[in-house]
Amino acid sequence: MRITPLMPNLYINPPKAPTFQSIIRDVRDSNGNIKNSNSTCFYSKDIDWKNFSDYLFRKYQKNDKVNVFSFGCSDGSEPMSLAILLDTHNRYEARKFFPIIAKDNDEFILNRLRSSNVRAYFSDIDKIVEFSDNHLGRYFIIKPQLPENESMIIHPTYELNNRIRYINSDVRKSVNALPSKDTVLMIRNIVPYLGNEAKQEEFINTVTSKLKENCVVVIGDLEEDLGIGQKLEDAGFVPTEIDHVYETKSLSGQV
Ligand SMILES: C[S@@+](CC[C@H](N)C(=O)[O-])C[C@H]1O[C@@H](n2cnc3c(N)ncnc32)[C@H](O)[C@@H]1O
Repeated sequence: MRITPLMPNLYINPPKAPTFQSIIRDVRDSNGNIKNSNSTCFYSKDIDWKNFSDYLFRKYQKNDKVNVFSFGCSDGSEPMSLAILLDTHNRYEARKFFPIIAKDNDEFILNRLRSSNVRAYFSDIDKIVEFSDNHLGRYFIIKPQLPENESMIIHPTYELNNRIRYINSDVRKSVNALPSKDTVLMIRNIVPYLGNEAKQEEFINTVTSKLKENCVVVIGDLEEDLGIGQKLEDAGFVPTEIDHVYETKSLSGQV
C-alpha cells in the first residue's frame, strides 16, 4: 500500500465526498414506508469470504466461464469485494468469473461511483487491505487526506472497474434472463424491497426455476430471516458448507 503525503482534505468540508458504507440512502414511498435501502459495506460479516472464494474456485475448476451476478449491488461494495477476492486468489483463473454483472435500480447510487471520489472509512480500508493481500493501491486510487478523519478518499481503479459491469436495472425483470447453467447469483439483502410477499415469492420462484445446473445462490441475513433459505431447499437447492450459500443439486457424475 502506498501512503500519500498528508494534505488538507478538500472533500470533507464542503463539498463532502460521498462515502462507502455510510450511504444508507432510504427511498420512501408517499406514506413514509421504506421502499429501498442502499446500506451495504465491504466484506460484510454474514459471509465467510475466504472460504467462499475457495469454494468457487473448487466448484468451477473445470469451467472456462462462470456467469456471476450481484443483484441489488448498491454502491458496488459487494461486487467489488467479490472481484478483489477472486482476483487475489488467482489472477489468471479468476478471469472466467469476470465481468461480474452488478445490477441496481437506483441510478443515483450507480452514478455516484462513476462520477465521484468516495470516502472509505478505515474499517473498509482495513478489510480491503486484508482481502487483497495488501494490494489496496491496485484496486483504488488513494487521495491525500488528514489522518484524523478516520477515512480516506479513494476511487476504484480502471483495473477494478474493468472486472465489474454496472447496470441500472430492475432485477424483477432481469431474473427472467438468468443463464440456467454455471451461474453464481448474489441476492443479498434485496428481497424485502421487491414488493409484497407474493412478489417476493414470484421472484424466488423465478430464480429457482431458471437456475438448473451447476449454479450457486447467495442470500443475506434479511433473506434468511424471511425463510428464503428454506424456500431454496424446498425447490431442490442444497445448503453448502458456507452459511447463506446454496447450490443446485449436482447431476450424477459431476464433481
Ligand atoms: C440493502 S441494499 C443491499 C446491498 C448489498 N447487496 C449488500 O447486501 O450489501 C439493497 C439494494 O437493492 C436495491 N434494489 C431494491 N429493489 C431493487 C430492484 N427491484 N431492482 C434492482 N435493485 C433493487 C436497492 O437500490 C439497494 O441498493
